[in-house]
Amino acid sequence: MCGIVAYIGSRDAAPILIKGLQRLEYRGYDSAGIALANKTTGDLNVYKIAGKVADLENYLKDKDITGTTGMGHTRWATHGIPNDRNAHPHVSQDGSLAIIHNGIIENHDILRKLLISRGYHFNSDTDTEVIIHLIDDIRKNEDISLEEAVRLALSELVGAYAIVIMSRQEPDLLIAARKGSPLVIGVGQGEYFFASDATPIVEYTRNVIYLGDHELAAVKNGELIIRNIANEIQTPYISELEIDLEALEKGGFEHFMLKEIYHQPESLLDCLRGRVRQIDSSGTVELGGLIKFENQFSNINRIIIVACGTSWHAGLVAEYLFEELVRIPVEVEYASEFRYRNPVILPGDLVIAISQSGETADTLAALQLAKEKGATIFGVCNVVGSSIPRLTDAGVYTHAGPEIGVASTKAFTAQVTVMTLMAVKMALKRNSVTPERANEILTALVNIPDQIREVLKKDDHIRKIAEIYKDAPNCLYLGRGIQFPVALEGALKLKEISYIHAEGYPAAEMKHGPIALIDEQMPVVVIATDSLHYEKVVSNIQEVKARKGKIIAVVSEGDEIIQGLADHVIEIPRTDEMVSPLLSVVPLQLFSYHVAVMRGCNVDQPRNLAKSVTVE
Ligand code: M6R
Repeated sequence: MCGIVAYIGSRDAAPILIKGLQRLEYRGYDSAGIALANKTTGDLNVYKIAGKVADLENYLKDKDITGTTGMGHTRWATHGIPNDRNAHPHVSQDGSLAIIHNGIIENHDILRKLLISRGYHFNSDTDTEVIIHLIDDIRKNEDISLEEAVRLALSELVGAYAIVIMSRQEPDLLIAARKGSPLVIGVGQGEYFFASDATPIVEYTRNVIYLGDHELAAVKNGELIIRNIANEIQTPYISELEIDLEALEKGGFEHFMLKEIYHQPESLLDCLRGRVRQIDSSGTVELGGLIKFENQFSNINRIIIVACGTSWHAGLVAEYLFEELVRIPVEVEYASEFRYRNPVILPGDLVIAISQSGETADTLAALQLAKEKGATIFGVCNVVGSSIPRLTDAGVYTHAGPEIGVASTKAFTAQVTVMTLMAVKMALKRNSVTPERANEILTALVNIPDQIREVLKKDDHIRKIAEIYKDAPNCLYLGRGIQFPVALEGALKLKEISYIHAEGYPAAEMKHGPIALIDEQMPVVVIATDSLHYEKVVSNIQEVKARKGKIIAVVSEGDEIIQGLADHVIEIPRTDEMVSPLLSVVPLQLFSYHVAVMRGCNVDQPRNLAKSVTVE
C-alpha cells in the first residue's frame, strides 16, 4: 500500500505534495513525509513524522520547504512499526540520496546483511532502506550515473515496488520505477508529476502515462525518458484522464463513506449507461469491453472468480447469478489462496478478477497465474488504467467514480451490477435464459437507482436503530441464497469501521454452531426479503427470538409476518430476487456508518486498514 507523489517543474513542490498526500491518504495513514531539493542552499531537506498528513503539515510550519523538485509519502506499515524513523523518505548514509517506496522487498534481509557487512548503518526497520543503500553502494563502486545505479540495483530486488528517488547533487533529476505497484506520471507543460494513482495529478494535467512493470522513468532538466530494465528506451503512451475533480471532494457530506453510499443511484446509472437496450419485451446487454470475446461465450465450461474483501462478496453474488442464468459451474476464490494453491485450470475456464482498485496484489497475482496456466482472463475494475485491466484479455469497468472511503460501498453495488449484466449477456448468447426472463431482470436492474433513493430515505430510521446497538460487542448477520453474501458484506462493513466483532452466516448454518452465541445482548441482522427461501428465513428468525436475540430485519415493503416477529424492521422496495442484493446492502452500509460515527471511529480511515492493498 502506501501513497507516493512527486513533482518536478517550476512551481513550489511542497503544496502539490501535501495536497497529493491528502488525496492518497486512503492508501495508508501511519506516517507521512516529504523531501525537497533546495537549489539555492544545495540542501536535500527531508521531513517525516508518525501520524497523518495533517500532522506532517503542522510539523512543516517552521521548516524550509523551498524547492521545485520534491516527493512525498504516506505510509501503511509493513516492515517496522509506524514511527518517525520508519516513515519515508529514507536517505542514504551521507544524506545525498532519498527514496520513497510503495511495495515490499522480499529479499531485504539478505541485502541488509550484505550492506551491513560493507559498512552501511541502518536507521530504520524498513525493507525500503536497503534500496537506497544498495543504489549508493553501486554508485560509489562503479562511478556510474545515478539512473544506471538505480537500474542495476533494481535487478537485485525481489518483490514489488514503486519508487521515486531524488539526489542532492542533481536537484533537477527525479527517477521513478515500478514493478508490481502502481505508478502514474502526469505530463504537464515543462513539469511532471508522479503518483500512486491519478488523484494528485488531475487538477494540474489530464495527460498521463501509466508506467509499466520493469520500467524506469527519469526526468532530467525537463526531459522525460523511460527505459526498461534492459536499458532500452520505451515510447510512452499518453492517455487522457476522465476523473471529475468534484468526485475527489466530500461535497457537503461529513465523510466520504456517507457521500459514496448516497452516490449509489448516480454511480449505478453511470455503470448502466449505454449498456442495456430494451425494445418491447426483449432486452439486450452491450458491454464494449467484451465484444471481441462474445463469440467465445459458448466455449466457456467454468467460471472462476478471484477477488478479496468486498469484491469477493460481489463475486459470491455473481456465483448465484451465473449459475442460475448461465447454468455453468462457478467457483469463487480468495485470490490470496488461489495464487498459492497450484489450481487446476482446464480448457474452457474463464477467470474473472473483481477489484475496485485494480491493484490488489493478491488478485493481480491470481490473475497472472491463471493467465500462465492458459485461462482466458477478464477483469471487473473501477479504476481506469489500473494494473488488472492492463493485464486482462477483456473486461468491464464499473464506472462508479473514485471511491475514497476505505470501506467499499458504491464499488460493491457497481460490481454486482456489472456481474448481473455479464451474466445476462452470457446467458442470452448461450440461450440459457429466455429473452423474456432476461428482460425482466434488466427491467428490475434499471429500476434499482430509483429504488436505492427510496432506501436512502430510511436513513433516519436506520440511525435510530444504530443508536440502540452502538455499544453491542458482537453482531451476527444472516442471509440465505443470494442474500448470504450480503450478510457477509454487512458484517465486514460493521467490523472494519466500528471495530465491533461481526460475523455473516448463511441463516441455516446458524444452528450448526453460531446459535450458541445468541442471548439477549446479541443483535442479529437478518436479510429476509422476498425469495424462495422466505419461509425458511422466518423460521430462522423464530429460532433467534426463542433464544432472546434481538432481530433487525431487512424486509420487502409491506411484509407483515416479520413485522410481528422482529425487534426492528427496515423495509426496502420489492424487486426481482436476482438483483435484490443491490437494495438490501444499502441499509447495512448505513447501519455500519452510523454505529461507527456514534462510537467516535474514524470512518474513512479505519485503524490498521488501507484502501488499496498492493502488498501480500
Ligand atoms: O480494490 P479491491 O476491490 O481489489 O480491494 C479488495 C479489498 O481490499 C477491499 O474490498 C476491502 O475489503 C475493503 N476495505 C472492504 O470495505
